Amino acid sequence: MLKDGLGRELTYLRISLTDKCNLRCRYCVPPCGVKLKEHKDILTLEETQRLVDIFTKLGVNKVRFTGGEPLVRKNAVGLIKNVSKLTNAPHIFITTNGVLLEDYIDYLCDASVKDINISLDTLDPSVFESITGSDSLSSVIEGIRSCLVRGINLKINTVPLKGINEDEIPALAGLARDNNLSVRFIELMPIGCAASYEGISNDEVKRRLIDVYGQGVKAEAEGGGPAEYMMFEGFRGKVGFISPISHSFCLQCNRLRLTCDGKLKLCLASLVSVDLKFLIRSGASDEDISATIIDAVKNKPSHHEFSSGVFDPGNSGMIGIGG
Ligand code: 5AD
Ligand code: SF4
Repeated sequence: MLKDGLGRELTYLRISLTDKCNLRCRYCVPPCGVKLKEHKDILTLEETQRLVDIFTKLGVNKVRFTGGEPLVRKNAVGLIKNVSKLTNAPHIFITTNGVLLEDYIDYLCDASVKDINISLDTLDPSVFESITGSDSLSSVIEGIRSCLVRGINLKINTVPLKGINEDEIPALAGLARDNNLSVRFIELMPIGCAASYEGISNDEVKRRLIDVYGQGVKAEAEGGGPAEYMMFEGFRGKVGFISPISHSFCLQCNRLRLTCDGKLKLCLASLVSVDLKFLIRSGASDEDISATIIDAVKNKPSHHEFSSGVFDPGNSGMIGIGG
């Protein structure tokens, strides 16, 4: 089992498969765009699979594929299928913007994927276009439908933004009234260009939901993650709150991150990373790589520093780290 210096057990690995995305959400991609990593610097799917195998042997039992947008990575589904067949296969999750989901859902089901998170900040096509720069809301809605009909465990992630989508908070939560899915509100983190926008605290989001849907009751948390859940009367699914700003969950953090260029990051809000790609490409054995990982994770930061200002992740923005 991987443990950091504070005794936190690190069993969850988030893997960014690419820094490319087919959307350009304003709080994720700066107006000038991001400098994409060079193709030669991106881990091959074989290298990624090898690292997943090493991490699972070290006790990682949950892997989430993110991006950018993971489904724009060529043959992402092939990798996911291979990972699902590993001897110590982890529980596989995907976080996607949903645009390409309908095209890939059957392949993902075939690769035993049962848990998908879709990022969706609005149900209004013009607001969608203003946030993401794309007119593909209908594809996302189709993606949601295609997951529901296949019985995928679906979570919708929404970032409320002052003056942009805040009026839609009840309508977005309403997706969990009408469908068997969870809707989770995420507080905006001041990472890179997101610092130019104002998020809404989840205490405020809850107040607005209680005004519309009544008091609600606390519901069971899922999968040991940081979300707190509530159930409102007449709802089929739960409403969740992820509050990294107002109620930091660093003390329970079990996450590691692997960037698409093979850097192990110990915290979303840290520039420190360990170059696993360099190790792989210089011929290191699995044992050497494991030893480096075991050593590196001891230095996982105790907490993020968002309260003390903006975190600038350099020219790659949030999109390059993997949300
Ligand atoms: N703060 C909070 N959430 C963010 N996401 C992207 N950038 C930020 C930010 N600065 C969210 C996306 C998506 C998830 C992967 O991360 O909206 O739901
Ligand atoms: Fe793409 Fe997600 Fe960033 Fe939006 S938030 S630009 S969907 S990576």
